[in-house]
Amino acid sequence: KLMKVFVTRRIPQEGMKILSAAGVCEVSLWDSDEPVQRAELLKGVQGAHGLLCLLSDKIDAEVLDAAGPNLKVISTLSVGFDHLALDEIKKRGIRVGYTPDVLTDATAELTVALLLAAARRLPEGVEEVKNGGWSSWKPLWLCGYGLSGSTVGVIGLGRIGMAIARRLMPFGVNRLLYSGRTAKAYAAEVKGEFVPLDTLLSESDFIVVSCSLTPETLGLCDKAFFSKMKNTAVFVNSSRGTVVNQEDLYEALSSGQIAAAGLDVTTPEPLPTDHRLLTLKNCVVLPHIGSATYSTRGIMGALSAQNLLGGLQGTDMPSELTF
Ligand code: GLV
Ligand code: GLV
Repeated sequence: KLMKVFVTRRIPQEGMKILSAAGVCEVSLWDSDEPVQRAELLKGVQGAHGLLCLLSDKIDAEVLDAAGPNLKVISTLSVGFDHLALDEIKKRGIRVGYTPDVLTDATAELTVALLLAAARRLPEGVEEVKNGGWSSWKPLWLCGYGLSGSTVGVIGLGRIGMAIARRLMPFGVNRLLYSGRTAKAYAAEVKGEFVPLDTLLSESDFIVVSCSLTPETLGLCDKAFFSKMKNTAVFVNSSRGTVVNQEDLYEALSSGQIAAAGLDVTTPEPLPTDHRLLTLKNCVVLPHIGSATYSTRGIMGALSAQNLLGGLQGTDMPSELTF
């Protein structure tokens, strides 16, 4: 008898093909590019043996109870897992698959692009070309900050943080500082110096947040955090929106406490179009597209399908989360 699987969104065809070729499960798909409503999610998971979800689906006790005792595996199409209530999942003996590594390069590239866009004011420049503000080559116009000779601070030098650091060093970065729970031996490759957060904040010209969202990092970037940064520093976040207190970031950007910010993640997502961060010229906001290359999303789709199948069949998953 085929096992039941609920997939909460249209996913790359690479993933769907693997699921159907396996011949072990019957897939019920929320056949849309828009999120499944909560009520539909609760209905869709009923009796499911497997759940393939996205980072925008909150998987908590209510969803697990709605699914019932068949549920063996949750496979998320993401490296982040802060949307999963791991304590509740563990209690029920459910395995979890996720998609680390395969999105590291794409996310690091996007983060570098966002850093440069914010530091060199690309969206402002594009806008001026379109609206006729470009009247001449002007010595004092649209100046920003460069990486050459700078100090970069990475908060969370994990897989993605390290990939960002590797890409930034060839721009002529002078010092690479990082902070987090522990010093990392592999940081030597980028001459990374493990420093207290306060040191990183006061000495960095660019601050890149690439830590995971945990109780310790929730709201980490607040008024006190921004007040320790240089007035010329650029802040970039490609991790999770709630690592940042957005009211405090708005104040820091509008008062000139810091120079600019680039955000690929916000609270909430999507950010309402009338949000005041969007009124600031020195804030570049992207719609959470860190891993969005065609090839990376295809590979993520395939990996999430393979993880799901491993969980259904009680075999190894290519990327199982241990928790
Ligand atoms: C993206 O944010 C992910 O967690 O994959
Ligand atoms: C810039 O285009 C320059 O020639 O300095």
